[in-house]
Parts: sequence; C-alpha cells; structure tokens
Amino acid sequence: MHDKKLETTALVLTAEIYNRTNDLKADDLPSELRKHYWNIKEKTVLRPMNVTARDLEEILDIHDPKEIASSLPFMEYEEFGQKIRPTVFDIGVKWLARHEHGVEYIKNNPVLAHFYENYDSLDVSYEAAIGQNEPKEVSRQWVDSLITQISTEKNAENLLKLVHITVPEEIDQTLDKLVLNQDQKDEVEKMVKAIQFKDYLKRIGLIEVGKLLFVGPPGTGKTSTARAMSAKLKLPFLEVQLSMITDQYLGETAKNIDRVFDLAKRMSPCILFIDEFDFMAKTRSSDENAALKRAVNSLLKAIDEISLVKHDVLLIGATNHPQLLDSAAWRRFDDILDFPLPDKEMRREILDIIVSEIEGQFDTEEISAITDGYSGSDLKLVIRESVLNALMTDRMALDQDDLIRAVGEFNKRTSLKYIAEEEL
Ligand SMILES: Nc1ncnc2c1ncn2[C@@H]1O[C@H](COP(=O)(O)OP(=O)(O)O)[C@@H](O)[C@H]1O
Ligand SMILES: [Mg+2]
Repeated sequence: MHDKKLETTALVLTAEIYNRTNDLKADDLPSELRKHYWNIKEKTVLRPMNVTARDLEEILDIHDPKEIASSLPFMEYEEFGQKIRPTVFDIGVKWLARHEHGVEYIKNNPVLAHFYENYDSLDVSYEAAIGQNEPKEVSRQWVDSLITQISTEKNAENLLKLVHITVPEEIDQTLDKLVLNQDQKDEVEKMVKAIQFKDYLKRIGLIEVGKLLFVGPPGTGKTSTARAMSAKLKLPFLEVQLSMITDQYLGETAKNIDRVFDLAKRMSPCILFIDEFDFMAKTRSSDENAALKRAVNSLLKAIDEISLVKHDVLLIGATNHPQLLDSAAWRRFDDILDFPLPDKEMRREILDIIVSEIEGQFDTEEISAITDGYSGSDLKLVIRESVLNALMTDRMALDQDDLIRAVGEFNKRTSLKYIAEEEL
C-alpha cells in the first residue's frame, strides 16, 4: 500500500541523517534516491540533500506535501523553497521506529539502518542493509544485478540476447583516441551538459533533447563515438542491432522493440544505441509483411515516448544509409550528427593515433595524402596489414615502404570488391 506519511517521513529522515553524518557516502543511499539526487559532475550526492515538493512528486509520486506535513507533528512545509523538513527530529525518529512498517523501511535503507542500529531494541544492521542496496551504475555488478532480476521474467532470455550491455568501466574507447570534427565535439559536449543540467531542462519544460542520429559511411567512428560517450558520461551502454531483432524473431518483432525500450528504462541512466537504423526504411517500402510494419510503428512510437529528461535514457541511432530513411524517422531525432569520411588532416591524426605504439621510420603525412576516400577503419586495416607483413620477415619496426605497399594492396582489394559487387 502507498503510505504517504510513512514514505515521506522515511525520505525526509534519510536526507536529514545523510546531511548530519559525514561518514555516510552516496552509496549508502537507496539506489532510487542516489539516482535522483546524483550530481554527475561531482559524482556524488551533494550535501545538503533537501526534500522539495518536486522531489516528492518524482520519487514517491506524492502531490500534496503541505497536507502531509501538517498531518505530522514533527514535519513542516516551507512555502519559500517548497521544502519539506523535520521540525523536531527526535519525534520523527521515534514515529518511524514505532510505525508498524517502519522497520522494513529502515532495514532496506543503509542510511536509516546506520542511524537506527543502536536505537532501542530495533533489530537492524547497517551491514545487512548495505548488502541489500544496489551498487552504482558504472559497475558490472550493478548491471548484473538488474540482469539477474530481469532474467527471471518471461521471455527474458530472448530479450537479453538482443541487447549487448557494456558498463563504463569495461569500455577502453576514449574520446581523446577519436579524431572528431568540431561539430562532433560540440554535440558530445552538448549531451554532457544536457545530462548534467537535466533537472533544469525538465523544470523549464525542455524535454526534447537526447535523441541523436549518427549518419555516415561505415568505419567513420559512429559506434566508437557512442561507446566513448558512454565511458565519458559514466552510463551503461545498451547496443541493439535492428536487423537482429527482425531476422530472428519475426512474429515477436514489435514486442521485442517495446521490450528493448523497457529494458533501457529499467537500466537507466543509460545510453541506448540502435545500430543499422535504416533497417526500418527497407521494411516500410515493402508492404508484404504486416509483422514488420507493426514493428516499424512500434519503433517510431517507442522513440517518441522515451526521453532523456524523463527516463534518463540517451538514445543514439546510427545508419550507414541515410538516404533510406523517410521523414517519419528523421523527424524523431532532435539532432543529426554527420560522420563524413575524414579529410587529409583528420586522416593524418587518425594514423598518428593508430601508430602511436608502433616503432619505425615513417611519415603519416605522406600516407594521409594517398588515402583519399579511406575511412578510419580502412586506415586501421592498412596499418594492421603493414604490421603483419613486416612480421613475415620478423621485423617489429615499420618503414614507409611497408605502409605504401599496404595502401596499394588495400586499393587492389577494394577495386576487386567493387567488380564483384557489380557482377552480382
Ligand atoms: N574518426 C576516427 N578517429 C579515430 N578512429 C576512428 C575514427 N573513425 C573510425 N575509427 C576507427 O575505426 C574503427 C571502426 O569504427 P566504428 O566506430 O566501428 O565505425 P562505424 O560505427 O561508423 O562503422 C574503430 O576501431 C575506430 O577506432
Ligand atoms: Mg558501427
């Protein structure tokens, strides 16, 4: 049952105890409070932690703070600042301890358990409460605990096969290892700020942020950038290939899409990365398959409904074939970020990053000049070939000829590939 007085008292006392007790860390707060009050920049919950009317609404779905405060002798509602706070702390403490469900709240909340551990004859332990509390979002532990919970549910096995989940601590792709143009850098920074100032955006009603579409040829850094953002923003990374969802479970496709978005909301805060976003365009143009059409509509609807500000989910779509997307899809993203093939200067910077650990005498300037049209991942392949070729003669150091030869081989291979494709 929704006991508003009890929930409000537990929350207000938790904040008060947290403020008073410097020994307590943000991790001691129940995860829903930690999430709600989390300060991204400082990576903690800052003191003082206040309980405002808005907090009550968002955390507990309680809309009448004034009535509640006036019905509790130890609580006061402060119009200025719309805060609810304890007037006589000790009476509040006693009230909670004596409430018939009070102990349950205390046992599941390390902050309260810490305070009540030696209180009267209550049977609570801080250690036990900590064990119950969920760990932080950045850790594998946090994600695993959610997965364990979810995997006991119906159809969970299929769902978890569709979504590849990585946590920030597992991602070694960093933004400084990616060569990005100014637009791309600005967009990343914009998202960092949007997440940092999420509550402000919500307050002013600006909720149309946090849906990005990455557009560009294969190998230009779309996936890498999304992953690096996950590491930078300290958000778990949920990756979905749209083709997988349709191919494998045709009849279930529409439902799968809803499940994926639900999963993202439950994993939040997180990044939901949807790769091969153009898959839906292909299905739209062929009306033969009603199940696929339903899936497309589910997807569009799910995108409409999900929000960074409301659900703590940053949505990133990626496509190599933007020309296949129709306006219904475009319209749903509030920022389109272009990933062009790198120009000469960017190619040199990418090469410099790739070869940074490789020994030898070579000039990346010259290589960048003869690799027009190469993507970042093409350049990576060229260097890999050079290294492997050099190893054929037991050399660990590269010279310029190795690189130039690898470029030549790469060009030969791509033209063969084009011929093969034309003959199809
Ligand atoms: N702009 C870039 N700067 C540095 N490395 C890049 C860049 N673009 C691509 N790469 C490298 O190429 C590889 C493939 O990139 P990826 O992000 O998978 O491309 P996409 O998702 O656009 O197909 C990655 O390992 C990445 O390191
Ligand atoms: Mg990719």
